[in-house]
Amino acid sequence: MSEAENTKELKLLKDGKRLDGRDYDQLREIQMQLGVLKRPQGSAYLKWGGNKVIAAVYGPRELHPKFLQDPTGAVIRYTYNMAPFSVDDRKRPGPDRRSVEISKISAEALASVVQVTEYPNTVIDVFVEVLQADAGTRCAGLTCASLALADAGVPMKDLVASCAAGKIEGEIVLDLMKEEDNYGECDLPIAVLPNSEEIVLLQMDGHLTREEFTKALDLAKVGCMQIAKMQKKTLLEAVKGGEE
Ligand code: CDP
Repeated sequence: MSEAENTKELKLLKDGKRLDGRDYDQLREIQMQLGVLKRPQGSAYLKWGGNKVIAAVYGPRELHPKFLQDPTGAVIRYTYNMAPFSVDDRKRPGPDRRSVEISKISAEALASVVQVTEYPNTVIDVFVEVLQADAGTRCAGLTCASLALADAGVPMKDLVASCAAGKIEGEIVLDLMKEEDNYGECDLPIAVLPNSEEIVLLQMDGHLTREEFTKALDLAKVGCMQIAKMQKKTLLEAVKGGEE
């Protein structure tokens, strides 16, 4: 029997718990680490359930070719890439429609926090490499990129914390894992600025009623605030570690 046929039989919810034993409103386990690479100005590593993501920040540095420069501020260039070995079926190397879309929306989310006007005519390059994927990689990438930017000392008015909620077997749940993403009814990834609670990314794949949408959005926001707490703790620990 193929994996797809197998999973059709798979019950995503049992006795009020999910496949991995989580409650409906529970995030997967998350670990964050700063300064994991020596060449970039800033870097971070994020392990989020079955996702493993690394982010590297270069710049601000002069943008070439010059016609791409913006005299009013830095350009944020975000490159999301999935390693060929990050998924079950080998992913063809190089950009595709999905990675271009994720890169674009993530760059826009980060541009809302970076104080770009301080660095005219420059580019800030943010590279996100997904080493292992298990759904929610755009959220993991953006969360990790925000940490790498802070590690690089790039001035930001806030962090960006990202998390998805979704619907599986009729229930609204937080932070879908791969089986839930593939065989669930809806995925709603968002990104939030924790200080202002402004939403800087919102996508929806699937269908929700208006009430379900409100419930999922509220739940995803709660998830983002939990993520933001972990980001702040990671940054504070790095500052304290540096002082010792
Ligand atoms: O990762 P994210 O949820 O942000 O994006 P998605 O397009 O909804 O993809 C969900 C998951 O499908 C990914 O995290 C991977 O685990 C898997 N996927 C895959 O196996 N092969 C691809 N080419 C793309 C995604």
